[in-house]
Parts: sequence; structure tokens; C-alpha cells
Amino acid sequence: MRKKVTIVGAGNVGATAAHWIASKELADVVLIDVAEGIPQGKALDLLEAMPIEKRDVHVIGANDYAEAANSDIVVITAGIPRKPGMSRDDLLQTNYKIMSDVVNKVTAVAPNSILIIVSNPLDAMAQAAFKQSKFNRERVIGMAGVLDSARYRTFIAEELKVSVENVTAFVLGGHGDTMVPLPRYSSVAGIPIAELMDAATIERIVQRTRDGGAEIVKHLKTGSAFYAPSAAAVEMVEAILKDKKKILPCAAYLQGEYGISGYYIGVPCKLGERGLEQIIEIKLTPEEEKALKKSADSVKELCAVIGV
Ligand code: LAC
Repeated sequence: MRKKVTIVGAGNVGATAAHWIASKELADVVLIDVAEGIPQGKALDLLEAMPIEKRDVHVIGANDYAEAANSDIVVITAGIPRKPGMSRDDLLQTNYKIMSDVVNKVTAVAPNSILIIVSNPLDAMAQAAFKQSKFNRERVIGMAGVLDSARYRTFIAEELKVSVENVTAFVLGGHGDTMVPLPRYSSVAGIPIAELMDAATIERIVQRTRDGGAEIVKHLKTGSAFYAPSAAAVEMVEAILKDKKKILPCAAYLQGEYGISGYYIGVPCKLGERGLEQIIEIKLTPEEEKALKKSADSVKELCAVIGV
């Protein structure tokens, strides 16, 4: 039997995630949204592309959660996106209400699923979903590090005019202004980037990565990024469905790792069929550790506002 992935939220991120999943033939897809007709229309349109793409997957859209029954993975993208001038944190109250409602409905029909949280502010929404679902931490994982790292890798590849495939890089911390790109763990074909770029160039790329989401919002004006965010979520979906044991930066609930307890924050995670299978602890310099703590503090503040 084919695997089933439900995507909640049929906006740009959700619909594009459905597209990546179907085009990679990873699983049947259920697209859910409160907007009447939108998930149905987008799902049918995508389904009708499958003969051209030569992919045997089923895609269906719905307004209620019955179709999501027994999903292997549920990707939650529901929520409002930010507009120019807004920070991800400005979305907190509205998206928390939406997240609570969605998690209640998802857990009722898919109690054994793995949740991948994409809605912003990411780390606080992952925390909210974790608390509300009462799932163990292995089954509630936040997307963001994959996206932030992809942006960082893009800028490194463009700067050096090398293949994106050559660039390995990690961004830790929260998905916000306090995210922590790690130049020390960034390399091009195994060569540390400090050997290939001067410190000022690295700093410029690091800052552009931190502002990566806002850069897109500024261009689009009416919404936020969706191609790279959805591709990032689907890389996580693929790692889990194929039990790849892939190490990706994801938001995970920390229980003492990196000296942080009781909060979601971006760290290197091993993803496999059980979801979050391991948190990898890398040695940080005192400055990096300080930056990660600062990032965790800002997540903590947001969680306190919504009481999760
Ligand atoms: C971004 C938003 C989606 O980083 O958080 O583009």
C-alpha cells in the first residue's frame, strides 16, 4: 500500500508541497483547507498532471479531516503568512488558534502520524503542536533549518560560482532573526568556507541568510516564500518515508541537549521511519553557544505569550 501524506493548508506552501511530493512519487496526498473548493480544485488539477509526469499517486482535496485518516505524515502549513514590515512573531496569536484547532482534528483521525510543522512563528508553533497533540517528541518536528540552510547554501554557491551540490552548510537555532548560521561547519566539496572566502563575505552571506525570508516578502508584498519552504518540508517527508536516517537541521523538542530543556529549537536531527530518531550534539564555540541560547530565549518568550 502506498504511504499517505496529509497537508493541512492549501495555500502556496501547502499546494507546492503537494506538488513536490507527487512529482517525486513519494506518497498519496490529501490536501485540506477550510476554504471551500480550493483544496479540491488544486488537488484535482495536480492529479491531472500525473499522466504527463508519469507518477502513480492519488491526490485529493477536502475541507474536513475524514480523508486524512491514518496518514503516515501530516504536514501543517495552515496559518496566515506575513506581509512586508511584519516579523514572523507578529503572526503568533492568530496562527496559534489555527494550529490548536488543526492539531485537535488531525490527532483524532491520524493518531499514529508524524507531524511536520511549517506554520510561523515556527518554533513556537511546533511547541504548541507538541503540547496539544500529546505525541512524543519523535513525532512532532518543525521545519526551518532545512530552509535556512538551503538559503545559506544558495548564497555560498552563487558567491563562489560552484555547484549547489558541493555546498554543505548548517543553520541552527530558531527560525527568526536570532538564527545561528555556522560558518565553521560549512564547506564546499569538503573545503571549509573560511579557506575560500574572506570574513567580510561570510558575514554578508550570514546576514542575507538571516534576512532570507524577509527578502522574499519584500519582493512579493502580498505573502511570503513558498517554493523553498515547501521543498524543505518535503525533504523531511522523504527522509522519514524512506527511512533514510538523514541528518537535517530541524526544530526539535530539547530535553537537555545543548543545555536547553523544554523548548523547540533548530538542531541537527536524524530523520528516519520513527521520525526524529536522534539529536546530534556538535561542539559549539562559546560564541555559538551564546547565540543558540539567545535564540532559545526568544522562542521561550513567544511560548510564554501563548502559554505553551
Ligand atoms: C520564510 C518564512 C516562510 O522564511 O518563514 O520564508
